[in-house]
Amino acid sequence: MAAPRIQILPTHSEQFVQTFAPEPDAVQEEMTALAEERGDRFPGEASFPTVGHTVGGWLHQLASRPGIDRVFEFGSGFGYSAYWLARALDGSGELVLTERDQDELDLAREFVERGEFRASIRFEQGDARSIFERTTGDFDLVLLDHKNDEYPAAFETVADRLSTGGLLVADNVMTAAIIETEPLLAGLQNGTLSADTNAHTRGVFEFLQAVRTEPRFQTQLLPIGGGVAVSRHGGEIGDE
Ligand SMILES: C[S@@+](CC[C@H](N)C(=O)[O-])C[C@H]1O[C@@H](n2cnc3c(N)ncnc32)[C@H](O)[C@@H]1O
Repeated sequence: MAAPRIQILPTHSEQFVQTFAPEPDAVQEEMTALAEERGDRFPGEASFPTVGHTVGGWLHQLASRPGIDRVFEFGSGFGYSAYWLARALDGSGELVLTERDQDELDLAREFVERGEFRASIRFEQGDARSIFERTTGDFDLVLLDHKNDEYPAAFETVADRLSTGGLLVADNVMTAAIIETEPLLAGLQNGTLSADTNAHTRGVFEFLQAVRTEPRFQTQLLPIGGGVAVSRHGGEIGDE
């Protein structure tokens, strides 16, 4: 049985951050209500684990940076995080949502299409990594929010296909009902993870170790929501 997730930021601090996040629109309010109704699908979570308003506001901020045009999401659920990304993109933008569960993806399409965004938006059902491998060209922002034990493989797949200055953003790198936060922190401090941690915690650990030792990436962690890793692909001097 999963333990309830640890809240990493005191409630009042999360509220401070949220006062600066863009206001959710009416569709996003509906999505939040739906997430609350669907908590029973995820043991230990009070609601369907969308990124939530605070992280959504940050996704909007990151995707609004000049030069962010092509965006790819691993694990779109019913489209909450994708909706924040879509709000940030202009008419030259392209956003690919991926979701292995067809029902979730159908809901995502319904919600996101109601936003009438200018960017070109694709909805792809199946394994996110396989879908990424079938695409061509570099992406400017990739969001990982699928299965934590699949983060290391996802990093291997996307690392060479992020544009210079592009961002790899990963959610739930500090907490989630299935993440063992204290052993994860100890592992990051010591460089080794206790052998009895679960596969999801190990996935996050291996992912964070990979991004912090990969010289092409500079990574910082945002202690909001489930904890967000933002890795900027700096590239080598002279890269385009
Ligand atoms: C945490 S939820 C995503 C929430 C969404 N990003 C949001 O903030 O609204 C994770 C989703 O990833 C999907 N998923 C898990 N593994 C996947 C995979 N390998 N490929 C595509 N989707 C996957 C699950 O079905 C689930 O809907």
